[in-house]
Amino acid sequence: MKGLDSVRPAGSQRIVVMVSGRGSNLIALQQALQRKAAQIQAQERPAAIVAVVADRACAGLAWAREQQLPAFLVEAKCYADRSDFDAELSAVVARCDPDLVVMAGFMRIVSARFLELFEGRVINVHPSLLPAFPGLHTHRRALEAGVLLHGATVHWVTPELDAGPIIGQAVLAIEPDDNEERLAARVLRMEHCLLPSVVGHLLGLGALAFERPPVEEPMGRGVGPFHRSPEAERILLVDPALCRARAILP
Ligand code: GRF
Repeated sequence: MKGLDSVRPAGSQRIVVMVSGRGSNLIALQQALQRKAAQIQAQERPAAIVAVVADRACAGLAWAREQQLPAFLVEAKCYADRSDFDAELSAVVARCDPDLVVMAGFMRIVSARFLELFEGRVINVHPSLLPAFPGLHTHRRALEAGVLLHGATVHWVTPELDAGPIIGQAVLAIEPDDNEERLAARVLRMEHCLLPSVVGHLLGLGALAFERPPVEEPMGRGVGPFHRSPEAERILLVDPALCRARAILP
């Protein structure tokens, strides 16, 4: 997997976001990009979401339309078969000429052809510390498994579900009063920092990570230190509770 490389020109990099649901990661990314553009006061934005593509009518798509972002709906049921649907999805994304394709809650496995077309340009945000808990119901499964650490991952998309190379992770400590809903909310808040961090890093925009996440933390908890290892080109966000936990070790 070669990934985005340093040959990408600075200036006006094009992001396509793919969604199927509420779209909170899309909103977090758009707000982080807008703040970055305002910060550097550039004439031209260094990177922008140029289109939102959904496979169903959903809140994320509606939000994109409200924001007057180009928004495309490609619904499987409108096509004779899977291959026609895949072809249309690929064509719609290709017309947007993306430097980066971000799957942010896109609930469909894309075809090998799609991944060939956009090789090294497709990332996904997943609500677990991969390789643990690929697939659905990750928070419930983490609680049932009794793991101590949980979180979110951004990874390159490969044909195997949730199995591509990991770019960044956000880690939190599961607490005794976490239930599925509470844990989902805590992880989602970390995703809202992690995804812009990774995108900023991949597109050479610097630390989008230090921006405040746009969605209020229902549990009143902040997101802790942000680490980036230049050697490994990886990102790690850490729940402050983990730092506290380390402090009480003998
Ligand atoms: C997120 O938890 C993401 O990790 C997963 O689907 C959810 C999408 O949430 N892939 P939203 O639509 O961004 O609010």
